[in-house]
Amino acid sequence: MKDFFNGLTGRTRVLGIIGHPVSHSLSPLMHNAAFRALDLDCIYVPFPVKPAELPSAIMGIRALGIAGFNVTIPHKTTILGFVDDLSRDAELMGAVNTVIRDGDRLIGHNTDSIGFMRSLKDDLSIDPAGARVLILGAGGAARAALVGLAQAGISEVTVANRTSETAEELLALLDRSGFPVSGTHAELSIFSDRDTMGTFDLVVNTTSVGMGNSAFEGFDVAMLKSVSSVYDMVYVPAETPLLKAARESSLKAANGAGMLAAQGEEAFRLWTGCEPPPGMMKETILNALASAA
Ligand code: ATR
Repeated sequence: MKDFFNGLTGRTRVLGIIGHPVSHSLSPLMHNAAFRALDLDCIYVPFPVKPAELPSAIMGIRALGIAGFNVTIPHKTTILGFVDDLSRDAELMGAVNTVIRDGDRLIGHNTDSIGFMRSLKDDLSIDPAGARVLILGAGGAARAALVGLAQAGISEVTVANRTSETAEELLALLDRSGFPVSGTHAELSIFSDRDTMGTFDLVVNTTSVGMGNSAFEGFDVAMLKSVSSVYDMVYVPAETPLLKAARESSLKAANGAGMLAAQGEEAFRLWTGCEPPPGMMKETILNALASAA
């Protein structure tokens, strides 16, 4: 294998990620591993960009000819005002996680819902068509989940969130886009409603609850149907208390590592037109998480 980083040339395409912080991001590792494996003359770099610096960062990206980039917290929605066009998914979600360059134009995409849906298929082997889904949380990650699930034809969604206004805003997305999905919002007290909890086929946690082994108070997975599945977008720890309880109740359960890898694979396809080596991004993530644990 060639000495990748010393192999930079005058033609090397520079890609990267903007966010604040970005030092924890696993995207540089997984994208550079795939570039290396395919011998592509590309490099992926983390760019820490504070909120107030976003406009000048975008000017710099345009001026320097950066070939494409990912966008993470806290810029996923503010970036909308700085790109020249949006993909349908990014427009639906009101958020951008991937920008591609088309000549002088920057086009905002969102690969989070594709990544989420790919992970549901690969890691939980479920087809959510017709399903009744409970989404926990109503932020950007919940938007990605809702758009993917609505496109896949779920029949009903309940969004449970601490702040009901945000849940209502999220559900307004269904009306705006015309998806034939019945949506309701609920307080987190829904956890004690045994009858309602017993109707869900799939529960998706899009909040940060689970990090640091935190747990939703009062959420007893025993109230779910025995055929229900649980997806937790958190991936550190690899097994959150919610996932542990789901596994102990023999429910299908998966963490967010698969979504992280699959959204990256889709961004890679958009930037390079190449298929990333199968499984490589996920393996890179899992190795990095295992060595950090
Ligand atoms: P992201 O883009 O990762 O989705 P976000 O937009 O900040 O991040 O959204 C985080 C979501 O997690 C929100 O729905 C938030 O609830 P609020 O709307 O009430 O703020 C939810 N969340 C975060 N911490 C939580 C906690 N400790 N308990 C319950 N919900 C929480």
